Amino acid sequence: MKTPKLVCPVHTLDFKQLLPGNTELTPEVLDELIATQKGTSYPTLAFLEHGTLFKDLRGFLKMPPYDTIFQGINRAVAMTLMNKIGFTPPLLEFFDYFKKNDDYTYRHSLVVFALSVLLAQDLLGETEDWIIDVMAGTIHDFGKASVPLNILKKTEALTDVDRIILEHHALAGFVLLSYYLQDHGKFAAWVAKEHHERRDGSGYPLGLKLTDNMIEIIAVCDIYDALLSPRPHRPTPYDNRTALEELTEMAKQKKIGWEVIQGLVSYSRKDRPPIQEVNVSTEKRGTPPTDTVYGVVEKSIRCPNCHGTAKEKKTLREGIEYVRHECASCGKEFNNDDLINIEMEKH
Ligand SMILES: [Fe+2]
Ligand SMILES: [Fe+2]
Repeated sequence: MKTPKLVCPVHTLDFKQLLPGNTELTPEVLDELIATQKGTSYPTLAFLEHGTLFKDLRGFLKMPPYDTIFQGINRAVAMTLMNKIGFTPPLLEFFDYFKKNDDYTYRHSLVVFALSVLLAQDLLGETEDWIIDVMAGTIHDFGKASVPLNILKKTEALTDVDRIILEHHALAGFVLLSYYLQDHGKFAAWVAKEHHERRDGSGYPLGLKLTDNMIEIIAVCDIYDALLSPRPHRPTPYDNRTALEELTEMAKQKKIGWEVIQGLVSYSRKDRPPIQEVNVSTEKRGTPPTDTVYGVVEKSIRCPNCHGTAKEKKTLREGIEYVRHECASCGKEFNNDDLINIEMEKH
């Protein structure tokens, strides 16, 4: 089993450093961190009774395509279950932070939570008690509180360094949840750590083969909602059909399974066919938003290596756009941060 290593420090919301960058997250390190919380006990509060969470979530679920997905009994099932899930005050404060500073993560966290609860009930056939237990404290993107807001809100394509800092949210969330839940084996902490892993090992932070069905439900809902949402660097959201087609493409590549997509397709249809009987169409008819086209070439720069022409190459991964430069003469690739460093060395 690989040991994850932090690339950046992890802080609480009041800027207390929990662990410095470069820390290997061994069980001993986590136990030592958790021991600093010894003697602290928190009351458990009903999740949806905090602040405006209930009202806000109800509003978010009225927006398409969630209005169709959560029509009738589905909304009642999800909201009733979510209301039975207990959270401690420090975890609820993260919602206040996102509501104030990053409305995308706030809305996205609530919607992914509701959708995952619904799918868990329909796909896994587990008891309500099991769902309440595993979902307690589960907010997959808590670690984004450790990512600078200028990266979360960047309106241009992300550089490689931005990507590394953004991807740090998975391990940051694992540390924060282990700390506040006082247990690094808690399901919620593992969700934060593994929700970007994929079945074929192509994800991050460790490139593990994702095998847990519940984490996969959250992972697929996460990608689905990320595509359906306008993002600072991609203002046009995917439409529902195209978002489902992107997921279908990932299932064809064996990155994710078909079951969650079958669930989402069933919920998106008015006749609500039984999930197991849904045939997911592999025909591509949708068009991804045109402001996020793969491989768009816009700017050219002088290659710092051979002085040839290096062209900008944008790539899109799961709806997030990254930018690099590739030299047409020597073939070397550069990211913006390499170029900035080269500029600084010159001076
Ligand atoms: Fe995430
Ligand atoms: Fe997410």
